[in-house]
Amino acid sequence: MAKIGFEIIGTGHYVPGAPVTNHDLARVMSTSDEWIYQRSGIRQRHFAPDGTGPSDLAFEASKRAIEAAGIAAKDIDYILFATMTPDYVFPGSGALLGAKLGIPGVAALDIRQQCAAMLFGLQMIDGLIQTGAAKTILFVGAEAHAGFMPWEDWSVLDPNSAREASPEDRARADKHRNLAVLFGDGAGALIFRATDRDAGLRGLKLHSDGRSAELLYVPGGGFRARPYWRADSYENQEHVPRMDGRELFRFAVTKLPQTARALCEQQGVKLDEIDWFLAHQANKRINDYIRDQLGVPSEKLPSNIDRFGNTSAGTLPILIDEQMRAGNLKRGQLSMVLALGAGIHWGCAFFRF
Ligand SMILES: CC(C)(COP(=O)(O)OP(=O)(O)OC[C@H]1O[C@@H](n2cnc3c(N)ncnc32)[C@H](O)[C@@H]1OP(=O)(O)O)[C@@H](O)C(=O)NCCC(=O)NCCS
Repeated sequence: MAKIGFEIIGTGHYVPGAPVTNHDLARVMSTSDEWIYQRSGIRQRHFAPDGTGPSDLAFEASKRAIEAAGIAAKDIDYILFATMTPDYVFPGSGALLGAKLGIPGVAALDIRQQCAAMLFGLQMIDGLIQTGAAKTILFVGAEAHAGFMPWEDWSVLDPNSAREASPEDRARADKHRNLAVLFGDGAGALIFRATDRDAGLRGLKLHSDGRSAELLYVPGGGFRARPYWRADSYENQEHVPRMDGRELFRFAVTKLPQTARALCEQQGVKLDEIDWFLAHQANKRINDYIRDQLGVPSEKLPSNIDRFGNTSAGTLPILIDEQMRAGNLKRGQLSMVLALGAGIHWGCAFFRF
């Protein structure tokens, strides 16, 4: 049976509020613009205000994607929602988004593959379309990491405020500064639809390895504990993820080039036949390293980490929205999508636009 193609018919993204610069972060922890930029390529990020969850960010991004697609929300027959910072422990955020979009009743599936969620999403979309289970699919990645940042007084970040961080806030933020400087909030939405064209998923390699789960994980709030949330969990800052940055870095720069080469071999595609390398943005140095390893020219691997930081599941949809709106990703072009996220989950996909 011939494979049914699918294409992106509309995209959108949304980031909350004014950007928080590296200089602003230095008001609450011992860090500097120089350290953060040199180690990660990040200059600024956005943070969701208190009371705003990923479903709210996703709602804004989805409205933009729906408008760009020239469809109505009611045309969507499946929602895939990717986040590692859901509105609630349960239920997931997908159904909340459906309600906000005015399409209650439409099936909504939550994906929790963190920064690698887009790859799992592409596999789901392909499956839903090939089986005829859905025709018009909204894929959203959205994150509100602000909820795990280790300080309490957010007004200190305001460059116009004379407030200074309390010694307790500074100590908490310093303890987690390697992690806190990397993440930012935002949402990206992509609408996929079946097409007669030769477009869509054209090869995928996916991997998961739970042996390395504790390289990046949230120690608190899990159901191994009774009750699953306790006062001392907060005192021990167990809501803040623990991250072994060096080991994750090593994992990413080893596994992603390996997987990219394996996918090329499997599909009989040469690296120089690929038009775009759409890579998750965890650290610009990781992507520079992958680019060097694969011999990819810098203009083929777009970067936006300087403006958003790592928006986890939001990153790839935000990047794709920016690149599509700029007119860079053209019909018929072949892209390789690369990502690695907590889990650890990682992989590469060929997506033809
Ligand atoms: C986090 C990361 C930027 C840290 O860079 P690094 O070169 O590994 O730095 P290290 O953690 O070894 O720390 C080096 C020094 O900088 C200090 N440091 C850590 N964070 C800092 C910050 N925000 N500002 C200033 N100094 C900082 C450390 O305390 C350490 O000081 P020391 O040498 O006096 O002990 C880097 O490891 C990374 O990006 N890893 C991948 C993370 C990732 O991709 N996560 C998401 C996966 S989806």
